[in-house]
This record gives sequence, structure tokens and C-alpha cells, in this order.
Amino acid sequence: MNVLITGARGNIGRHLASCLIDNPEIKLYLASHSDEGRDDLAVAFNEAEAVKVDVNDAGSVSDAVVDMHRVVVISPDFTDERIATGNLISALNGADSLQQIIRVLGLFPGLTENRIPAWMREVNATCWQHMTAKRLLEDSGLPVTFVNPVARYMQNYRGFTGTGIRDRHVIAYPFPQVMPHIDTRDIAEVIACILQMDINDHDGREYILTGAKEDVLSCTGVAELFSSVLGFKVEYRDDRGYFHEMLAPELAILFADYLQWQQQTIGDLYDVTDEVQGFLDREPRKFRDWIRENADFFRAPSNQSAA
Ligand SMILES: NC(=O)c1ccc[n+]([C@@H]2O[C@H](COP(=O)([O-])OP(=O)(O)OC[C@H]3O[C@@H](n4cnc5c(N)ncnc54)[C@H](OP(=O)(O)O)[C@@H]3O)[C@@H](O)[C@H]2O)c1
Repeated sequence: MNVLITGARGNIGRHLASCLIDNPEIKLYLASHSDEGRDDLAVAFNEAEAVKVDVNDAGSVSDAVVDMHRVVVISPDFTDERIATGNLISALNGADSLQQIIRVLGLFPGLTENRIPAWMREVNATCWQHMTAKRLLEDSGLPVTFVNPVARYMQNYRGFTGTGIRDRHVIAYPFPQVMPHIDTRDIAEVIACILQMDINDHDGREYILTGAKEDVLSCTGVAELFSSVLGFKVEYRDDRGYFHEMLAPELAILFADYLQWQQQTIGDLYDVTDEVQGFLDREPRKFRDWIRENADFFRAPSNQSAA
């Protein structure tokens, strides 16, 4: 079976490739949109075929999907899905080999188009991006399974938020929404599981993934968890000044506006699902363990002292 993974160098994609690489029944095609990324994948997974695919380039998408049986689509943030998913659908329409598309979403259940303001549509903000992709794929009639993590990725904390924890012992985040947290390795393992199962059991289905109940946390709860694992006090502060310092100015404004919309429109999210447990026959990975595994990152020496 030929399986193409787009976004293969990202959090989910790389772990998914590791899960599947030793399966003799799967020939993996791992995609990056750059030459450098393709070379990186070729070195990391030498039994797989590393390919260059830019989701915005119709030609590269059609070349990549030839003879694919299953295609896993992990889309970068702010993608214009009218183009990217449009390219995918055109390339796959009439492809005899295709059995299943697995599309990763990031979409709050029950959210309707009319609650997404114009500015979010213009920048292809996450919800709008995934809503667009989902609608296009459903309308296409192609065999699709949606994997929808309704949770914040633990791996996000190795981004700018993690820098704040390491350098100032502060989580500087506007709008301390309560959210479930999920380890992206669990998402990858659920996808790996679906890929090795009968497609008929999953066609047209959407799986909403979250982490464990104990990892439904506000920013204050996250700060307390980091403090207890790392052994120094991490504090949550709605510190817009530092938030703007950590991100590029336009991104900080955009992200803060998005978080404000999310807090006002969606509110706190306490629900967890048992899909990860159902697929993997074990509990979801815990945030506490993820912090422990990544403790060196948060304890790394820094030039700045804690505020
Ligand atoms: N972060 C969260 O808390 C959260 C929660 C729910 C859902 N989500 C969704 O999860 C997805 C992200 O998953 P992830 O964290 O595993 O991904 P990721 O680490 O952000 O990786 C995305 C990959 O896309 C590739 N890429 C960039 N531009 C591309 C292009 N033009 N064409 C093709 N590929 C391109 C990049 O690799 P190359 O540069 O090598 O091409 C990158 O590895 C997003 O759709 C996001 O909305 C996120």
C-alpha cells in the first residue's frame, strides 16, 4: 500500500512516519515543500521515498498522488484551502488507486460559518481554514476520514511560550482559556492505527481527539503543572508587552485577536473524548510526562534572568 504524508516534517507527520516506517506492507512517501526538507526526510527515513510537494502548486500535488492508496494531509497554519484542498481534490478526482484521505483538522465542534468574522476568513485563521477544507472534501465525494484534535498541542510549548517559561519563568498569554491538551504523538498513533485498518470502518467519519481529563487546564493550571515538574515557580501573566516581544508584531496582534475571538465565541472547553483510548488501548499521554521529557529545554541556561 502506498501512503503519502504531507506535512511529514511536522509534529504529527514525523512521528507518524516513525510509526509506519517498519511496516513491510506500507511504502511511505514523505513530503516537504522545500529541497532542504526533502533532503532531511531522505536522511531521516531512508527506506521511504522523500518527495517535494507544495500544497499550493497543483502540478506538484498531482505528481505526488499518482498511485497513492492513502493520503494523509497535515496542512500548515494559514493555508488558503480553496487553493490547497482544491489542488488535492482535482489531483485525486478519478485516481483509481485512491482508497482514503485522512485529513487533520483543528475545528471546534458545532462551530458554524456565520460565527467566523471577515478578518479571520481573510487570513485563513485556523477555524476558517479547516472549515473550508472540510466542506470542500465532503462535497468532493472522495473517501475521507477526519481526525480533529480539539485540544492544544503540548508541543506548542516548545515554541514561543516555552521560551517565556525558560527565560522568565512566565507563561505570557492573553485570554487564559481552559482547554484540553494533547501530545501530537497520540494523534500520529491514531492515524497510524486508522491506516492499518479497513477503510470501510472509517469512511466519512470524524474523530475528535483530546488528551486526558487531568490535562484540561487554564493557563494558570498549566503554569502550576510546569512549576511542579520543573521545580521552580512558573507564573501565568496576561502580559501583552512580553507576548508582543516574543512574537513578530503582526503575528502577536493576529494571534491575540484570534485568542480573544476563541475565548468569546467558544469559551472554556472541558469536554474530553475517549477516542485516543479507543484506538490505542491505553490512556492518552499525560502533560506532566511530556514536560518531564522536555525538562532540559525549559531548564536550558539563558542570558536573561527570571522576572
Ligand atoms: N497547534 C495546535 O494546538 C493545534 C490544535 C489543533 C489542530 N492543529 C492543526 O494541526 C496542524 C499542524 O500539525 P503539526 O503541528 O503536526 O504541523 P507542523 O509541525 O506545523 O508542520 C506543518 C508542516 O507543513 C509543511 N509545510 C509548510 N508549508 C507547506 C507547503 N506550502 N506545502 C506543503 N507542506 C508545507 C512543513 O514542512 P516543510 O517546511 O518541510 O514543507 C511543516 O512540517 C495544523 O493544520 C493546525 O491547524 C493545531
